[in-house]
Amino acid sequence: MAGQIPQRFIDDLLGRVDVVEVVGERVQLKKAGRNYSGLCPFHQEKTPSFTVSADKQFYHCFGCGAHGNALRFLMEYDKLPFPEAVEQLAGRLGLDVPREGGDDPRAHQREKKRKEGVNLLELAASFYRERLKMQEGQSAQRYLQSRGLSPEVINTYGIGYAPGGWEALKHHLSERGIGEPVQVEYGLLIHREDTGRTYDRFRDRVMFPIRDLRGRTIAFGGRVMGDEQPKYLNSPETPVFHKGRELYGLYEARQATARLEQLVMVEGYMDVVALAQYGIHNAVATLGTATTEDHLSRLFRLVSRVVFCFDGDRAGRQAASRALETALPMMIDGREARFLFLPEGDDPDTLVRREGAEAFQDRVTCAMPLSEFLFEQAAQGRDLNTVEGRERFASQVLEALQKVPDGMLKSLLLEALAKRSGLAKTQLQVLLEKRVASSAQKEPAHWEPVDEPMLVPLPGERPVTRSHRKISQALSIVDRIVQLLLHEPRLVSTLPETLEWLPEEEDTPLCRELIALLRAGRYRSPQVVLAHFQGSQEGQVLATLAKRELLIPKAAREAELEGLVEHLLDVQRKRSPREEYEALLSIVRSGQKLDQAQQQRLASLVRELACH
Ligand code: UTP
Ligand code: MN
Repeated sequence: MAGQIPQRFIDDLLGRVDVVEVVGERVQLKKAGRNYSGLCPFHQEKTPSFTVSADKQFYHCFGCGAHGNALRFLMEYDKLPFPEAVEQLAGRLGLDVPREGGDDPRAHQREKKRKEGVNLLELAASFYRERLKMQEGQSAQRYLQSRGLSPEVINTYGIGYAPGGWEALKHHLSERGIGEPVQVEYGLLIHREDTGRTYDRFRDRVMFPIRDLRGRTIAFGGRVMGDEQPKYLNSPETPVFHKGRELYGLYEARQATARLEQLVMVEGYMDVVALAQYGIHNAVATLGTATTEDHLSRLFRLVSRVVFCFDGDRAGRQAASRALETALPMMIDGREARFLFLPEGDDPDTLVRREGAEAFQDRVTCAMPLSEFLFEQAAQGRDLNTVEGRERFASQVLEALQKVPDGMLKSLLLEALAKRSGLAKTQLQVLLEKRVASSAQKEPAHWEPVDEPMLVPLPGERPVTRSHRKISQALSIVDRIVQLLLHEPRLVSTLPETLEWLPEEEDTPLCRELIALLRAGRYRSPQVVLAHFQGSQEGQVLATLAKRELLIPKAAREAELEGLVEHLLDVQRKRSPREEYEALLSIVRSGQKLDQAQQQRLASLVRELACH
């Protein structure tokens, strides 16, 4: 980790940027008196209830309660983690973000290297772009033209040309004081061990810069113009480039669309740029690898709907079923994945050229929902008219469902499975829970340990299932409460009115904030709750908790929550009747009402204390 960003820097930064400007770049604002107003970007609305105050330097939505300063806005709107949001704001003012407590000098070193690498790659990208415009780039120009790309698209994607010699880039960079070892490290230069010679990795190729979310070039893909092999050459893994994480076209997609709602995953560079050429600006491509969890979690942080494009052939179906596997655990409520199968022999590039943008968009719109693809896969090669066929079918779907986080989608899928298999939903539910429990037993390592010191013994008087006991061993009680509420927000209504049961000296602000939010009634699904905290440290804690399965049936959750709260109350009571008495009294003094249990408790405390 790089060191902490000093608070005074953040204060200073917030003092210097203008929230109206930051918001105004992303949301259309109208001046209304001393404030500005517009349509809230955080919820759907037709009349503006979103205001930005230049005096107070914050935004507020009267519709959904979204609220914060310029930093918060960037975190929520651009979905940036805190340090990146700070970097962004600082970048606007041309400031470097200082880090303190740089306990780890290696972190500084790494950061320095990262900057160095990015600069170097940026230099290379502009070198390639310039060469494309020169005499030697003519063949590449013609090639791009023959593939139907306009100068605008070439410009938007920063496409360039790597000249044919062996050392053109090397000389260009070396003249600018960049040593060969760095060029090798960032994948631009190849060093032959046997001869000790070095030469440009990319030669006589059309160059596609791969950019990170902030538009900085982090790697390249280069295509030959003829039939040589390999057709595409990609940068190797470097300190700034990890294939399994980056997506080609993501930066450009975000630049092109004010509010991205959906992304289309395609296979190749050319697919992305061809779609852009036809006005479809939301395509991204993996870089010659299968879709990874990293890719998907990135995409789902930016949009709620992802459409995967696959070739219509066998290999395409196989790739799709792998993508399905990867997507299942990420399908928390509110997210949507679809599968688009292209006609055999086509890729998005050829298809959009032949059919046009509208027809392609129609295909995207009508892409197969995840549920349908899941059922189709499970039904494949099975005769659902036989009992055995249906059994295998149901087992396969259940196996997949096991990976889906608890929520509406899972419940709906179970329902659909019931219809298709002829089994009752309740019965399927039981089967599913058995599966979850037994696989949880098999792989205990699956539960990430939570470093939380507060491990209060379980409430003895409540019936607890075996699986509950297991998970509780690693979670603190307050964490478990947060987890239950996160998975099932409606349970908030079963909590006691006041929060005196929450241990005060413990680290419970997250639990308090969550309860307050849920009580305000705006968050009904885990997805929205997570979105609220996105980018913050709490968000990470919540995401970890959300990922953990609850392992107990829905019906038992309310009872568990009640038991946990009861237990926390017990612990407090045992600690000190005097303290509890004072606490209850202060509730009364503050003008709040005690519920019946509290009243009884107060009465018995008075008796108890009077005896001593
Ligand atoms: P394709 O071979 O389908 O190429 O590879 P394409 O995207 O249709 O390209 P054109 O239309 O022939 O120009 C799809 C993706 O697989 C990776 C690249 O990321 C490419 O975009 N790939 C392919 C490689 O990395 N190396 C290769 O040699 C070929
Ligand atoms: Mn192609």
